[in-house]
Amino acid sequence: MLLFKRPKGTSDIYGTNMLRTKRVEGILKELMLNWGYSEIRTPIFESTELFDRSVGDTSDIVQKEMYTFRDKGGRSLTLRPEGTAPVVRAYLENSLTNYGKPMRLFYLGPMFRYEKPQAGRMRQFQQFGIELIGSSSPLAEVEVFQILMDMLDRLNVKDWQFHINTVGCQNCRDEYIKALKEYYRPLLPNLCSDCQRRFETNVLRLLDCKNPQCAPYKKDAPHFIDHVCEDCKRHFDAVTSSLDALHIPYVIDHYLVRGLDYYTRTAFEVKYREGSQDALLGGGRYDLLIEQFGGNPTPAIGFAVSIERLLLASKDLDTPSEHPLVYVVTFDKSRLQGAELAFELRRAGIPTVTDVMGRNLSNQMKEANRLGVCYAIIIGEEELKVNEFTVKDMKTGEQHLVNREDIREYILSHSC
Ligand code: HAM
Repeated sequence: MLLFKRPKGTSDIYGTNMLRTKRVEGILKELMLNWGYSEIRTPIFESTELFDRSVGDTSDIVQKEMYTFRDKGGRSLTLRPEGTAPVVRAYLENSLTNYGKPMRLFYLGPMFRYEKPQAGRMRQFQQFGIELIGSSSPLAEVEVFQILMDMLDRLNVKDWQFHINTVGCQNCRDEYIKALKEYYRPLLPNLCSDCQRRFETNVLRLLDCKNPQCAPYKKDAPHFIDHVCEDCKRHFDAVTSSLDALHIPYVIDHYLVRGLDYYTRTAFEVKYREGSQDALLGGGRYDLLIEQFGGNPTPAIGFAVSIERLLLASKDLDTPSEHPLVYVVTFDKSRLQGAELAFELRRAGIPTVTDVMGRNLSNQMKEANRLGVCYAIIIGEEELKVNEFTVKDMKTGEQHLVNREDIREYILSHSC
């Protein structure tokens, strides 16, 4: 019986999954290079307060999903559930403000949320995110939307839908919350127990409830756009007219509120599967967060997506192979010559493997076949005597005797 199993909601990634993961991550890094974004890596754990104060202490993430622990010094630390708050902290702590605006950053790394695991919803997931810091212009939205379109296109994700909404600002949000409370108050007895609780702590979350019991009441709820201030309205109109002008298809989703408290004005999600409750990606503006963290008022916008969800959505993506090119086949007396030749070929950039099991010649040929190599280089007894090794093309079966000194050139000059 196995003694250990991986924790629920985590995964071991290897084989084809690893190749697909690396392919997606490679495409994302190339995308970022093209758009002039530089990578930032922040710690995997941060002070708990960082998330309480930004994601919001009434949010599901903070209330139910954080992996929080005390270190030996008694500090409360949390495995990061998301990347925006850590990036903003790092931006201020390292005075990245001095590099001028806008600052274009991206990150790729593990995040942790204690959620109910299912396909595309893990307790440890690999998240990619971008943050465009310093612009309040709708042009920032345009850049971020173009990036996400470019990303989905490069990853061959089809059938996605872009949902946007405005969630107002500090000047108008209370107005909307008041209207929403007035609407929901008489309906409270009909709502699920979570919504009854959220009505007091964070009424916006009622719009996000997935419980079928609450769904019928959502359709008549007031819309943010009818309650936001003039500035927010103007901004949203500018964003939607830019989208129209650029022929970027979108849906105005009046009930999109996002699960994190730091958003202001534009909030958006991409949905990709009929019937799927979870968004493929999510993001928005957070114009107040940098100031809340002690910096100068600095608007910002970004989005994040997990590799797990991208992999589910980009099924047709071609996967590169990781076959070695050459297998050096040896017998008892040529083992070390084989190891030496294999070493030389690898140093010349030719992916090569050789036997470490002490197998006989025919079993090594079977192994070479199993690995799908292009060439087997056989150093048998006769070959050793004349210092000319047999190079076998595994596809055609053709064999040539090649002088030991010319082998490297021979492999390099023949395509697979
Ligand atoms: P979020 O909507 O909480 O936003 O997460 C963004 C994305 O992370 C989701 O759309 C999904 O792709 C992925 N994700 C979240 N939770 C899980 C999970 N349990 N398993 C697998 N994937 C998951 C944020 O995290 C914001 N920081 C995004 C942002 C960046 N806003 C502005 N800048």
